Amino acid sequence: MTDSWATFGADLHLETRPGRGMRAGLTEALREAARSGRLAPGTRLPSSRSLAADLGIARNTVAEAYAELVAEGWLTARQGSGTRVAERARARRPAAAVPVRRPVRAQTSYSLMPGSPDLGGFPRAAWLSAARRALTEAPNEAFGYADPRGRVELREALAGYLARARGVYADPERIVLCAGFTQALMLLARTLRARRVREMAVEGYGLDEHQALLTGAGLRTRPLVVDGSGARTADLAGSAAGAVLLTPAHQFPTGAALTPGRRAEAVDWARSTGGLILEDDYDGEFRYDRQPVGALQGLDPDRVVYLGTASKSLAPGLRMGWMVVPGPLMEEVLAAKGHTDWSSSALDQLTLAEFIRSGAYDRHVREMRLRYRRRRDELVAAVGDRAAVSGIAAGLHAVLDLPPGGERAALRAAAWQDLGLRSLSSFRHPRASTAPREALVVGFGTPTQSAWAPTLAALVAALP
Ligand SMILES: Cc1ncc(COP(=O)(O)O)c(C=O)c1O
Repeated sequence: MTDSWATFGADLHLETRPGRGMRAGLTEALREAARSGRLAPGTRLPSSRSLAADLGIARNTVAEAYAELVAEGWLTARQGSGTRVAERARARRPAAAVPVRRPVRAQTSYSLMPGSPDLGGFPRAAWLSAARRALTEAPNEAFGYADPRGRVELREALAGYLARARGVYADPERIVLCAGFTQALMLLARTLRARRVREMAVEGYGLDEHQALLTGAGLRTRPLVVDGSGARTADLAGSAAGAVLLTPAHQFPTGAALTPGRRAEAVDWARSTGGLILEDDYDGEFRYDRQPVGALQGLDPDRVVYLGTASKSLAPGLRMGWMVVPGPLMEEVLAAKGHTDWSSSALDQLTLAEFIRSGAYDRHVREMRLRYRRRRDELVAAVGDRAAVSGIAAGLHAVLDLPPGGERAALRAAAWQDLGLRSLSSFRHPRASTAPREALVVGFGTPTQSAWAPTLAALVAALP
């Protein structure tokens, strides 16, 4: 606890602790400030008179503390230049930087790691002009603390877009903007735990990060079998799960679309048990063989939380995501969010709102859809009959099924080519009951345009 303090310059607080003699306390606080570098070498200290007045103590006490520190070598005192922190006062070097483990993958010359769009395709010019317009028109209150749901401009723009493009029943009042899908999932996990849900069903193949997040929030995850029709939602009946996380438009990573029958089964289960469906619509805009199938949420907006993200359509670095929350859940989700977090920057939100309103988002998605569709076609042609491309023509990744032993051989050969690749088995839930499939998950969206051709060639060279 601090019982007195003084400020040197703009922002250095000097704290003395109670329970020590005033002189000893001041001496120790000054010594520590010099030792730690908080008071930089050469810093001129206030005169003993003014520091004493600041601290409300006798001038002699300050003078004695200064003298002691001069004697110890922490301070210097010279006629005419006052008392300063000695040049070599900083005895303790700052601890060596602790290497921070970031979830960034090792860099390889070529990458077909799934999960990323072509970052070179980010629409810089269109984003910049949307940002300029958004900033010019932003009301002053946009620079202040805001509604925990996020800016109304973006919620309104998204409601229109999601209804039109994804068949989502979207009321701006029920949209919550988040720092990507990941934060939305975290908030929902917390909400479910607060509702005493213990178990959540997930797809038997999925992102390990999402499973770890749910487990970390205290939810047990139960894998559902995934086959060519998506997750086997019939298995929800009779399970102890209070919620299920699904990727209906394009199962991640196997690439199946959830069939209408299985969609209906999931909704029936949710209605009859009071369970919740979390719909991860991470790449729903990207379908190449037909119009995208509408979101599952349209079937029952009271039982399905729709989750979307700009991470595939624009860039993961934006950290922009959204969820459309059933009415009765809204208060609990906002309680989970509002107390701890204010989401992404209001200016980015206003920019995205303007980007959508102006039609730039549609144009960008259309352009990227063409780009990814062409790449997928080229991938299928280049692979020929050396692997079977499975999953629907959609999204930013494809699955290449390989003969027995092919997965390991391909990964080893890819390492020789310095090509980043992931096996399908690396996405398998640790308790999945079905036999692992030998396959590669190829993120054809990841390379930039100029890297695409050599990356594809490296992949073909790595196939058994
Ligand atoms: C299945 C799936 N869902 C959601 C996301 C998006 O996560 P976020 O919006 O947090 O970037 C990803 C990104 O890799 C994903 O693969």
